[in-house]
Amino acid sequence: MKRIHWGSKLGFILATAGSAIGLGNIWRFPYLVGSNGGGCFLLMYFLCAIGLGYFLLLGKLAFGRAAQTNIVDGFAVVAQKNNKTVSPLWGWIGGALAMLNVLLVSGVYVVVIGWTLAYVILGGHCLFSGVNLIHSQTFSQLTSSFGMQLFWGILCIVITSAVLIRGVKKGIERLSFILMPFLFVLLLFMALWIFFLPGSERGLTFLFVPNWEAMGFTTNGFDVGVFADLFLTAMGQAFYSLSMGMGVVFIYGSYLSDKTDLKSATKWIVGLDTFVAIMAGMIVLPAVFAFGLTPAEGPSLSFVSLPMVFSQMSGGSVLMLMFFILLFVAALTSLMSIYEGGVSLMMDKLKISRVKAVLGLAGANIVITGIILASFTKKMNLMMGKQDLFSALDALTGKYTMLLFVLFATLFMGWVVSTDIIRNISQGAIKQQSKFFKRYMRFTLRFIAPAILLVLFVSTLFK
Ligand code: PHE
Repeated sequence: MKRIHWGSKLGFILATAGSAIGLGNIWRFPYLVGSNGGGCFLLMYFLCAIGLGYFLLLGKLAFGRAAQTNIVDGFAVVAQKNNKTVSPLWGWIGGALAMLNVLLVSGVYVVVIGWTLAYVILGGHCLFSGVNLIHSQTFSQLTSSFGMQLFWGILCIVITSAVLIRGVKKGIERLSFILMPFLFVLLLFMALWIFFLPGSERGLTFLFVPNWEAMGFTTNGFDVGVFADLFLTAMGQAFYSLSMGMGVVFIYGSYLSDKTDLKSATKWIVGLDTFVAIMAGMIVLPAVFAFGLTPAEGPSLSFVSLPMVFSQMSGGSVLMLMFFILLFVAALTSLMSIYEGGVSLMMDKLKISRVKAVLGLAGANIVITGIILASFTKKMNLMMGKQDLFSALDALTGKYTMLLFVLFATLFMGWVVSTDIIRNISQGAIKQQSKFFKRYMRFTLRFIAPAILLVLFVSTLFK
């Protein structure tokens, strides 16, 4: 069967940026900056995203494009193009890891995107009724209700499925064309608004001026431990933010034709993803600082602190609604990509139609989210160690299984098929690749990325 392809390069960039830009940028990035010393985290993140993230993303997109098929068959197909035969185990292990991550991450992601949808509706209510419905207890009320959270989660699943059923071009690409520019405009508007708020300088200074001590450069000399910790946190965030860890990048790459200049497209994707993270920081941090709160609060920063800040500002109800729409849109386009990873695999391997695959995945997603919520709201006594399933699965996928998949795929790319991957990057490129680029790319896939992934993996294991 002929492989479907994206309608245009811009469509591909917007859809892939849509996958990358998600809860990771708007919800997670600002509190990571907050709890990791501000500007130095931003600087480290920047270095990680450009020095390694970009090259890995480029390699994975090229891997997908060279394969032009699903992830299970992709390993063997690309090896064959390199005149090699590999054990089918590569494909099955890679596919199984990817599918596991799709199921678990979507289960967790839907809980959070459900909260954002609830806040969008509440925020809309506030704006139009003039009554403030979001107060300090709203979040704890929502997160203790199994039924409410499941309801909002299922609504998000229905919306995602409706888009996915329409397919790659008519569903994902078309919607990204509308939603992504909308997201950028909203983001810019909010960042400017906050910029002119009295007292915003403190937050901006915190975000942009590195505090070298937090990077390990203390008056007593250089502290390697502090530096390494910061580096690993930033690297992990870069992998997550660039949607690595479940074959999503591979699949989006497999819908590319040889005509697209991959390097320029990847630069745009990494650029947009980083830009949105910085803008989110420019919205959240100054707002929080201006009202004397601490930014290092973790997940509740967006759902508890920010609404309180907004409720004290003039015009705050407009900003609040905008912020949650932003979060929802960003998360929705990411969830769509996570779904596509699973759907494309199910269609190919189970030989079923797109509609059946979407419905099957949505059904599984509802069950898994239901179980996670039952544990999270203590409706059922389901724990993993000392943690409820929401926190446990979030940590398990974020720290282990997603990194494991990236490591697995990178080892394959570097040691088995690097020649074909590097050749594929040149397809459609306007300029010839320099010798230096080819060397750096191969070296990254073979040594730098696996080494960093391994250290990341082992260090979290011992923490
Ligand atoms: N990149 C997304 C975010 O920042 C998360 C994601 C990870 C999406 C992996 C798809 C695959 O929220």
